[in-house]
Amino acid sequence: MGRAFLYVILGGGVAAGYAALDFSKSGISHGELCIISEEPVAPYERPALSKGYLLPEDPPRPPSFHTCVGENEERLTLKWYKEHGIELVLGTRVKSADVRRKTLLTAAGETISYKILIIATGARALKLEEFGIYGSNAENVGYLRNLADATRLVTVMRSCVGGNAVVIGGGYIGMECAASLVINKINVTMVFPEAQCMARLFTPKISSYYEDLYKSKGVRFLKGTVLSSFENDSSGKVTTVILRDGTRLPVDMVVVGIGILPNTSLFEGQLTLERGGIKVNGHMQTSDSSVYAVGDVASFPVKLFHEIRRLEHVDSARKSARHAVAAIMAPDKTGDFDYLPFFYSRVFTSSWQFYGDNAGEVVHYGDFSGKSFGAYWVNNGQLVGSFLEGGTKEEYEAIAKVTRLMPMVEDIPELERQGLGFALSV
Ligand code: FDA
Ligand code: NAD
Repeated sequence: MGRAFLYVILGGGVAAGYAALDFSKSGISHGELCIISEEPVAPYERPALSKGYLLPEDPPRPPSFHTCVGENEERLTLKWYKEHGIELVLGTRVKSADVRRKTLLTAAGETISYKILIIATGARALKLEEFGIYGSNAENVGYLRNLADATRLVTVMRSCVGGNAVVIGGGYIGMECAASLVINKINVTMVFPEAQCMARLFTPKISSYYEDLYKSKGVRFLKGTVLSSFENDSSGKVTTVILRDGTRLPVDMVVVGIGILPNTSLFEGQLTLERGGIKVNGHMQTSDSSVYAVGDVASFPVKLFHEIRRLEHVDSARKSARHAVAAIMAPDKTGDFDYLPFFYSRVFTSSWQFYGDNAGEVVHYGDFSGKSFGAYWVNNGQLVGSFLEGGTKEEYEAIAKVTRLMPMVEDIPELERQGLGFALSV
């Protein structure tokens, strides 16, 4: 049993949605493109899962947060895919891939062949069990990567209003889920091994601003320690979280956000990997010229920094997907992907954006006790990274622009004095 398509996108997440939109704009014929996804719904904007989706009032639900909101007049719902002749094979896991034969085998036993494949399999949440901690499959312990996880989390949260939650991990998921838990009137204790939240990106000074904000909302931080085990009741629910330093935390629920692992396993031994992802060139093309990789799973050359990197953010998923489609449809007219790394988050009433690289010396500016402040990173005399909390659209555009230009900075105290004004003057 089998079907054949000219183009197949493996994975139906953010990158797949943006690739589908651009394929349709480039005039592919009905029946030429197929998207295979383990998830049972059309591609959607995953960032909503830790924000709007978890809110107690009027939370968005598919199809209201399909992909490409703001990019297209029509909504990319199931109907849109049907009308554009794009085959969605949903609720279907691909269990093996044969790059030489250009075939994918689904868990249901169907062989789907392609002329060109885009790998957009994203990543999966790391499990506590992978760190030797057991019991994270209890019904009141949640991870957050996909719609099923988010739906489960909402059910658990609703049964815990007024109760206690422990959030394991001080990264993006930990911070955004902690804020949502607070909004759902659940008491939160955050536990993570580092001395500061968001240690991968923030400076201690920036972390301290957000930790104070969270503390003002009642969140407790237990830093520099990790979970050592769970205690359960007779029904299997976790009742106590025990930390390595012996602290016992009574809980009604636990949320775990301890990082991700890119979904590369189908292609290990068949395609070149680097930095944990599938290595691609500036056209998002892998070591096999018929296969492209985009989004969280791809390690691509970041021209600005002369380095291969794998990014785990939505803007890079969207843009890398669009670049792959451009390169597939018009290879001679498409240059190399030239991407400025961009990360952001929104929690409570705060909102920040970051562009570039957080390497080198840091220059903070603005009012850290107020609503707007920021930082620049200067590496080898060049400005390489910019962070801003509480900016306007124009201010965020200015920090993006200045970061892309990577100007030389000779006078660091002067940069500090000018602060945001430096970006606005460029
Ligand atoms: P994505 O994970 O979106 O999609 C992969 C798809 O492939 C999934 O549907 C999966 O089921 C499917 N798949 C995998 N293996 C398969 C197989 N073998 N067979 C079939 N299907 C398979 N970023 C940001 O910049 N700002 C933000 O605010 C947020 N917020 C945020 C919240 C939450 C809760 C998460 C989990 C993540 C974010 N992110 C984010 C990160 C952002 O969502 C992420 O970078 C993109 O979703 C990556 O897009 P991809 O398409 O690469 O993978
Ligand atoms: P992360 O890498 O941001 O943070 C992981 C956290 O878990 C860190 O604090 C780390 O120290 C801690 N940790 C690691 N191992 C641990 C262990 N064994 N025990 C306890 N703590 C441990 O990852 P995340 O927060 O899980 O986010 C997952 C993915 O989702 C990332 O790709 C992220 O980019 C994406 N995401 C992004 C956004 C955004 O950009 N706004 C929002 C949500 C999720």
